[in-house]
Amino acid sequence: MKIHAYEKAFLYLGALLLVAFMGALTYAAVAMGMNLPSRAGSIEPAAVRTTPPFDEPGVRQTGPNSYEVVFIAQMWSFTPSEIRVPAGAEVTIKATSTDVVHGLSIEGTRVNLMLLPGQITELKYTFRRAGEHLLICHEYCGRAHHMMGGRVIVEPGATGGTD
Ligand code: CUA
Repeated sequence: MKIHAYEKAFLYLGALLLVAFMGALTYAAVAMGMNLPSRAGSIEPAAVRTTPPFDEPGVRQTGPNSYEVVFIAQMWSFTPSEIRVPAGAEVTIKATSTDVVHGLSIEGTRVNLMLLPGQITELKYTFRRAGEHLLICHEYCGRAHHMMGGRVIVEPGATGGTD
């Protein structure tokens, strides 16, 4: 009978932990604005440059405080190689590769994406502070991999973005 009681307690504990973890995850996702890169669709690698939104790579304003940034990765550069976005804005990054697997990492931020040919990778991100970040490919992609990079310039935003 004693064992039975323990078992029950463990079951409750398990359920409680599950609820706690789900809560933490939800909190991270909603309150802290944490987002995991997601697969946002397929694309024909050879037709990237003629397929929207990749036919117009770069920064596009999509709302009062929201922007879309479209990147194309290819050996051995990003198009565009420099972007400007305001601090505090919701930025949706959409990126893909036209050839091999590349990485897209924005130094000093949590932006860290894998760019696979044939796949669109998407991430929502908000740059809190104005400043400059290096944009780098962190996935070995051949002879000039180390040359593959760019700049992300975060400009002072309407909301201040002081934290
Ligand atoms: Cu592209 Cu390394």
